[in-house]
Amino acid sequence: MKLNKRLLVLSEMVNQPYNVVWDCCCDHGLLGFKILDNGLIKQVNFVDVVPELIDQLSQKLIKYADQLPADSRWQTWCIDVAKISLESNVELGTHCVSSNFSISEPVVHDRDSPAHLIIISGVGGELMIDILTGMMQRYSGHNIDFLLCPVQHTYKLRLTLIDLGFKLKQEQLVIENNRGYELMLINQMYGEPLSVTGNKLWLPEVGHEAYLSKLINHYQKINKNNRDELKVERLALKDYLSLQNRLYKKK
Ligand SMILES: C[S@@+](CC[C@H](N)C(=O)[O-])C[C@H]1O[C@@H](n2cnc3c(N)ncnc32)[C@H](O)[C@@H]1O
Repeated sequence: MKLNKRLLVLSEMVNQPYNVVWDCCCDHGLLGFKILDNGLIKQVNFVDVVPELIDQLSQKLIKYADQLPADSRWQTWCIDVAKISLESNVELGTHCVSSNFSISEPVVHDRDSPAHLIIISGVGGELMIDILTGMMQRYSGHNIDFLLCPVQHTYKLRLTLIDLGFKLKQEQLVIENNRGYELMLINQMYGEPLSVTGNKLWLPEVGHEAYLSKLINHYQKINKNNRDELKVERLALKDYLSLQNRLYKKK
């Protein structure tokens, strides 16, 4: 199965042996399948809120299971991501299907490595804020890695992540079909300060510069049409303009 560039880069960012990787908002499940196929991760749990999607994916996983490494395990869950339970699968209640499951020895982690990676990719930044805020009511302060790829509203999402105490482990900008995607690996316990504009994203490349110009145009339009409140949008415009001056304006 061929992955687009964004999903391929996300799969490559999964480069340490977590016990379980959660492919949340999985839709077609291509990302989780690729992660299992890479062989480093032995268990992927696929989660989507739409029953038909989870049914289709379960059938596909059963059909193509023999193409995966022999010790791969997977489960599919039809549930709102905000409600997943990392400790006990039984509590979920809406479990659909799993591979022939034999609980194997968990990977032995050193103190700092998280056992779980939660990937949330391909949904809007505002929905991601709701999902993460919901999850943090149960998992705040835990050593869990999150790999995020929001669609739009990244500035607002980053503000919320900073408020929730998340730190940055890695971030990358992927340009595909003239659109920019900000990929970030974060954790509440380990990492460096997370910035609102993604300080580590930007490279001296035409696509990166164009993505920043697009963000600026977007916030210029919003600020022009709405003069009152919208404080976040004003801050975003100011921060992106100053980034553009610093990184891309010719001296
Ligand atoms: C565009 S797809 C993203 C597919 C894939 N993750 C990607 O990055 O290409 C978005 C999926 O998110 C699912 N979704 C939206 N809100 C959700 C929620 N609260 N819990 C679980 N799934 C959700 C939708 O059903 C849809 O299948």
